[in-house]
Amino acid sequence: MTAVTKAVFPVAGLGTRFLPATKAMPKELLPIIDKPIVQFAVEEAIAAGITELIFVTGRNKRAVGDHFDANLELESQLLAKGKTELRDLVRNIVPEGVSCIFVRQPEPLGLGHAVLCAAPAVGNNPFAVLLADDLMHGTDLPTSALVAAFKDAQHTILSVSEVPEIDVTKYGILKHGAQDASGLITVQGLVEKPAVEEAPSRMASFGRYIFTPEVFDLLRALKPGSGAEIQLADAIDQLAAQGKVSAIMNPSRRYDCGDKFGYLNAIVDLALANSDYRDWFSALLRDRVAKLERNE
Ligand code: UTP
Repeated sequence: MTAVTKAVFPVAGLGTRFLPATKAMPKELLPIIDKPIVQFAVEEAIAAGITELIFVTGRNKRAVGDHFDANLELESQLLAKGKTELRDLVRNIVPEGVSCIFVRQPEPLGLGHAVLCAAPAVGNNPFAVLLADDLMHGTDLPTSALVAAFKDAQHTILSVSEVPEIDVTKYGILKHGAQDASGLITVQGLVEKPAVEEAPSRMASFGRYIFTPEVFDLLRALKPGSGAEIQLADAIDQLAAQGKVSAIMNPSRRYDCGDKFGYLNAIVDLALANSDYRDWFSALLRDRVAKLERNE
């Protein structure tokens, strides 16, 4: 039995929906108040027992590296100003015992291609993939649930949720069988962004996965699919056809931070969930809604 200790974070997409903010930095560094969305994903992975973080970076590679690297100059300036709490905050973004590796995706040829770029760093090991723009919030987070499920399954596992029928066109949708007593759902196939009438179910796969390294051979052999990109969904579909994929329900709330409304929704909900801002921010929201209702 192999444990999952490596996680891949693809951060090389163009992020066109957030231009111009993403002109010089990856969208994964967009903050929810004071924390970049990729840091939420990193914390989720570390909480699940991951000790090796593999970032697949693109044209704006420096910024993510700088965020997760030590910044001794900033640390000593904070210390000199007596701001020890802030110094500890920046120093402990990557805790002791956790290491970072940066690999490059030379061109944004799709999510499947980005994951394939991590192959040399992953080696012959199972690994998690976390898409930081899918921000998960709650007491139970999907990566821990996936790691626990992988202990028994030892094959690819997806984190899934049911979506309204109208939304099936936005996601990878499962063709699936029954759920067993442990919560594992048998996956028979994955259809990327199907038309409503062609969707095999309403169960959608989101940006949390665990793969065995055999996915790399499938990705290497794939021809570009929808959008002329190498699609991770196509490799999952092939694995599913071989009976090597299961899914578990996402135990948390998910925000699509790759989309402006999803991002705003995350900011509002996380501000309301934070005791530092809750009272002030809810009063502000109530005031603004009242003004809107009075047409002011
Ligand atoms: P998206 O499908 O959201 O694409 O990528 P995008 O380019 O980032 O954003 P838009 O649609 O242009 O606004 C999903 C995830 O896959 C990564 C992205 O960084 C994001 O985490 N990705 C995508 C890559 O790393 N490389 C790629 O070639 C494509």
